[in-house]
Amino acid sequence: MADKPAIGIEIRKLYKIFGPNAAEMVARVENGMTKTELNEKHGHVLGLRDINISMPAGGIQVIMGLSGSGKSTLIRHINRLIDPTSGEVVVGGEDVVKMNPDQLREFRRHQTAMVFQKFALLPHRNVLENTVYGLEVQGVDRASQVKSATMWLERVGLKGFEKKYPNQLSGGMQQRVGLARALANDAPILLMDEAFSALDPLIRVDMQTILLDLQKDIRKTIVFITHDLDEALRLGDRIAILRDGNMVQQGTGQDIVMNPADGYIQSFVEHVNRGKVIRVSTVMKQGGAGEGLASIASDALLDDAARQLIASNATHLQVTDAAGRPVGTVDMAAITRGIFPAGGGQI
Ligand SMILES: Nc1ncnc2c1ncn2[C@@H]1O[C@H](COP(=O)(O)OP(=O)(O)OP(=O)(O)O)[C@@H](O)[C@H]1O
Ligand SMILES: [Mg+2]
Repeated sequence: MADKPAIGIEIRKLYKIFGPNAAEMVARVENGMTKTELNEKHGHVLGLRDINISMPAGGIQVIMGLSGSGKSTLIRHINRLIDPTSGEVVVGGEDVVKMNPDQLREFRRHQTAMVFQKFALLPHRNVLENTVYGLEVQGVDRASQVKSATMWLERVGLKGFEKKYPNQLSGGMQQRVGLARALANDAPILLMDEAFSALDPLIRVDMQTILLDLQKDIRKTIVFITHDLDEALRLGDRIAILRDGNMVQQGTGQDIVMNPADGYIQSFVEHVNRGKVIRVSTVMKQGGAGEGLASIASDALLDDAARQLIASNATHLQVTDAAGRPVGTVDMAAITRGIFPAGGGQI
């Protein structure tokens, strides 16, 4: 469905300092000056320090952190709504920081689309007219605009709502319009800054499900910001955690839950439902192919393995790799140890 190939994003040695003499402050920050010191001694705000991330092409990269940690500052560098103090933002092999105004305009229009926390729908336009907006700006002909918008509205579950106005829709429905509008752009990169944070918990989970279902087809490079760990773990192929402008840890959800880099992240992850994060491959016993057993994929989650084991009425499940080959077995004791580790952290 995505016509354009997925493209990766490489953030390299990115620094952002807010204030009149930002460039002069980089050396101090490089030498370890903290955000508080920089503010107190020099009246500058440390936005980001030495951020390096490889965001996978066609994957969901989550950026997590508390308020003020630098999440929005980071995502706004990707379409250069913010200029870095130093560093590179390489998208599909090209450094966005070096683009001239014309190149940047083209890049923003065709390579990126944004979904905002506050929906940002135009109140005097109906749902269809809101959804075609980006295509109108791109100068796409009207028939193609309507065709694409209608298709995406259907995909997000809004068929029949085309003529409604934003104020006639619930928050969740408005955000579906926001998502359809972004997808109609057919840009390979989707930037979502706290896009679901304003929604009620159940609606929020619905929106996550819609996004995950769509992503199976669209395979866009999605940068998704949240301060919610459950949302991060559910959506993120990779998760990066920021604190006070520093990158404190990055990896898969499982990496972070199983090996939190410090006490700060430990405190984030200790209440997580590990059955929804840890994969069968982590707890299985290698080898020992079990003839006649029900099988489960090695990348399945422990919760699903437990359910399947109960349903199969056997003591073990056969674990298979992506090609369906047997690679090991798993039993309920291993699954339970994975979900409730003895030491509280490591398995
Ligand atoms: N234009 C600016 N001028 C000065 N300081 C700024 C500016 N924009 C952001 N900051 C500061 O940079 C830091 C990071 O802000 P940012 O908005 O990126 O945080 P965030 O993680 O997105 O927070 P939130 O969860 O509240 O949205 C904060 O200390 C903020 O006050
Ligand atoms: Mg923010």
